[in-house]
Amino acid sequence: VTTKKHPNGLDYVEINTDLCQASIFLQGAQIDFFKPKDKAPLLWVSSADDYQPGNGIRGGIPVCWPWFGASDIPGFPQHGFARTSLWSLASVKMRNQVVDLVFTLAITEDNKQYWPHDTEVSVLFTLGETLSVSIVNKNNCDYDVNLTQALHTYFPIGDIHQLKATGFTGAKYIEFAKGPYPQEGDEVNFTRETDRVYTDLAPIQHLHTPEGTIEVARENSQSAVLWNPWIDKSQRLSRFNDEDYLTMVCHEAANVLEDQVRLAPGASHTLTTHIRWV
Ligand code: BG6
Repeated sequence: VTTKKHPNGLDYVEINTDLCQASIFLQGAQIDFFKPKDKAPLLWVSSADDYQPGNGIRGGIPVCWPWFGASDIPGFPQHGFARTSLWSLASVKMRNQVVDLVFTLAITEDNKQYWPHDTEVSVLFTLGETLSVSIVNKNNCDYDVNLTQALHTYFPIGDIHQLKATGFTGAKYIEFAKGPYPQEGDEVNFTRETDRVYTDLAPIQHLHTPEGTIEVARENSQSAVLWNPWIDKSQRLSRFNDEDYLTMVCHEAANVLEDQVRLAPGASHTLTTHIRWV
């Protein structure tokens, strides 16, 4: 595990073991690269992103916390403030070539304006042949705290026209790209903008790509977001090439809508995703 500085100033941690290679930025506790040994990378990043401090990286796994999507409060940033905040590397452990890293985010005077609650949040990475990522929340207040969150994973899928995503059939979802309106029971194919929140999705899906099959699993998450911006939205997105929608899809382990995290005083919650080639 080595600490490095990107030419544009962002600090990151590089991991190189017998099982995998990875890099994780302190800004956002954002992993942008994960490659199991002898396999292809499992995360997608736009070549249009220039890793500027202050922006989330367009790819990897942005951590959306403590709200997902637009805030109800005018001026509050989309997808929360965690992805643009500076996190601390709190611990590194290694056993049998599997590395565990924990990143923590302090609630400072700066971000208290967005989150005045006394809670603890950390992101745990377990790096082996599988990539596991968790957001761990603990409520230290003497009142209930609710939040929404997501691990906004960008997957490299080779060719969106050939992508077959399975494990979604029959699950209820709300389509926000054309709606919002609720639907259920259709097969997933990508022929237009897709921006869906699944509200009761099974814990495992598969992305069948020309390069192989990616398994995406979730724990403590009923909800998940499936997103591809397609042609028009690609042209409006920051740090995204017009053609990028052809080679990525986001499948995000989430706690949103009715599945929001409700923390009683003293309670904890851990959202986890596991990603691997199968
Ligand atoms: C997805 C949302 O999760 O994130 C989309 O469902 C949104 O609506 C996308 O466009 C990207 O958001 P951002 O803030 O990273 O451009």
